[in-house]
This record gives sequence, C-alpha cells and structure tokens, in this order.
Amino acid sequence: MICPICCMEYAAGLGEDEKAHAAFHDQVVNGVRARPLSTERVIWQERNRRITIVDAHSPRAQKLRAQKLASGAGMGIPSVGGLYHADESMEVRGTNILLHHVGHRAVGIMMLQPRTTVWRHVWRDDQGTEFQACPDITQMWSIIFVAVSMNRRRSGIGRELYQSALSLFALSPDQIGWCSPFTDAGIAFLRAVCPDHFYQAE
Ligand SMILES: CC(C)(COP(=O)(O)OP(=O)(O)OC[C@H]1O[C@@H](n2cnc3c(N)ncnc32)[C@H](O)[C@@H]1OP(=O)(O)O)[C@@H](O)C(=O)NCCC(=O)NCCS
Ligand SMILES: [Zn+2]
Repeated sequence: MICPICCMEYAAGLGEDEKAHAAFHDQVVNGVRARPLSTERVIWQERNRRITIVDAHSPRAQKLRAQKLASGAGMGIPSVGGLYHADESMEVRGTNILLHHVGHRAVGIMMLQPRTTVWRHVWRDDQGTEFQACPDITQMWSIIFVAVSMNRRRSGIGRELYQSALSLFALSPDQIGWCSPFTDAGIAFLRAVCPDHFYQAE
C-alpha cells in the first residue's frame, strides 16, 4: 500500500516493511532525530529552539541530517534528483543550509546559494505578480527551498529560518532572493514574509 501521508509504498503486514515505513513516516511528520552535537554551529537559540548552519566544511553527520530533512519535510517540492544530498559538493555552488531544531528533532530546513539572474516582483491582489528583470543585480543570495516537518508547520519556524538567514549574512529583505518553483504553501509563506514585493533569484 501507499501511505497517504508520507507517500511511501510498503507491504502492510510485512514486519520489515512496516518498520521501515514507521521510521520514514515519523521523519516526514515529526522531523529528524537530532541531539545537540558539540560540533554544531548554532546561529540562533531561544528556549528549546535552535538554528544551526551546515556548509561545505560541516561534518558528514550534519549533512546527513540535512539530507533526511530535505527528503522528509521537503516532500512535495518539485525537484530533479532530490533537493539535497550529503555527498554533493556544497563548495561548487556556495551552498549554505540552515537547520531549525525543536528539542531533539531537526524540523526545518532552508537552503541558500548565490544566484545571478534576478527579477523584482510586486504582488497583485490575486496571488499573481507584476515583475521585471533587474540586470543591475549581478549576484544575490537566494533561498533555494524552505521546508518544515508536517506537524510543526504554522508555528513560526519558517519565519525564524528567514530572519536567521537575514541576520547571518547581514542582509535586508531586499538583498535576498527566492528561487522557483514555488508551491502553494511557499507562495502563501512568501507573501506573509514579503507582503509588498520580493526578488526572484535563479
Ligand atoms: C512553506 C513552509 C516552509 C512554511 O513554513 P512554516 O514554518 O509553516 O511557516 P510559518 O509558521 O513561519 O508561517 C509564517 C506565515 O506564513 C503564512 N503561511 C505559511 N504557510 C501557509 C499556508 N500553508 N497557507 C497559508 N498561509 C501560510 C502565514 O501567514 C503564516 O503566519 P501565521 O501562521 O501567523 O498565519 C511550510 O508550509 C512547508 O514546509 N511546506 C511544504 C514544503 C514547501 O512547499 N516549501 C516551499 C517551497 S517553495
Ligand atoms: Zn506514512
């Protein structure tokens, strides 16, 4: 059968399959088990919530956390060959990842890369935009994707990731772009954090 929530296909009644499904399902819904590590670079912390940064130099365990969270929380975001893999070179594309944790679970992920082609969008009354190219902007940090575990959505985690990305690179909202494709939830979120206009950076 195919689980309607995590979309994993498994044989109901088959012990090993059931177990594999339970583990993946938990990861999609509740996030990735992630005890605080001494090697973590914490960039923001409040009560039991913390955000860490993962980049090219991070230990593999942290990259694997990011990979699991991307495939779990990011399920449903269109991508060719997966959103992030622990073995891909983060150096080549300048990839930085922010991981949001609540207690002992990693529950939110935001991936950023510098991008070079930029448009400025102004929201219309419907969900559409008026947009124009910005040839003067030759490079900009872009949010490649953002995803939060199902059970943790709508509790401000996306917003906290966005604020941390701005603080980390000391940017104003007009100095950070967003990369398509956008999901419906992604557009609703983008409209909430950038209510007047936003930059698309590919
Ligand atoms: C998009 C996503 C990352 C938002 O993360 P989040 O932690 O739930 O966002 P926040 O709680 O910080 O929401 C901030 C505001 O954005 C808006 N918003 C976020 N998700 C929304 C949704 N699904 N529908 C309508 N508005 C939404 C709300 O105004 C919200 O404020 P409120 O909860 O006080 O009303 C999350 O829904 C997600 O992971 N979706 C699946 C993956 C995905 O589609 N990612 C986007 C790729 S482009
Ligand atoms: Zn499932």
